Amino acid sequence: MTLEELHAECKECTKCRLRKGATQVVPGEGSPDADIMFIGEGPGKVEDELGRPFVGPAGKFLDELLASIDLKREDVFIAHTVKCRPPGNRDPSEDEMETCRPWLDRQIKVIDPKIFVPLGRYALRKFIPNAVISNEHGNVYERSGRIYFVMYHPAVALYKGSMREVLL
Ligand code: URA
Repeated sequence: MTLEELHAECKECTKCRLRKGATQVVPGEGSPDADIMFIGEGPGKVEDELGRPFVGPAGKFLDELLASIDLKREDVFIAHTVKCRPPGNRDPSEDEMETCRPWLDRQIKVIDPKIFVPLGRYALRKFIPNAVISNEHGNVYERSGRIYFVMYHPAVALYKGSMREVLL
């Protein structure tokens, strides 16, 4: 199955309550051959409207972070733990993440990235249950031949300016 076919299937998903409140499913975007996969929490308002991941204010900062290591978003793959916007940007619930998880797992299977960058605590917990993001930011793990590089979510720098430097 190609990534395009997978995303076409994903866009039809109605498996959880999030789809009802969302404008559209946001499967993710980037290179199908990406070595690096960034995983955020869930689409925000702008992402929900445009159907693309990280295109609002947090996304602008993510672009800046990528540029700081000479990468563009087309070089990587950007996905979410839940593919539909939680109403009012609330946190995704355990059951919503669990229901959505097969989509991310299938993306991982197709893209087969070497490096995962979970952005923030929800994405982190997909890989390390119960982990605390403030203890894990910047930590690197290797598991089954894959590298995990843990980062705060870029949105934290929008709420707290001093976090920009920490993320950069
Ligand atoms: N937060 C996310 O996790 N993803 C987005 O696309 C925007 C904000």
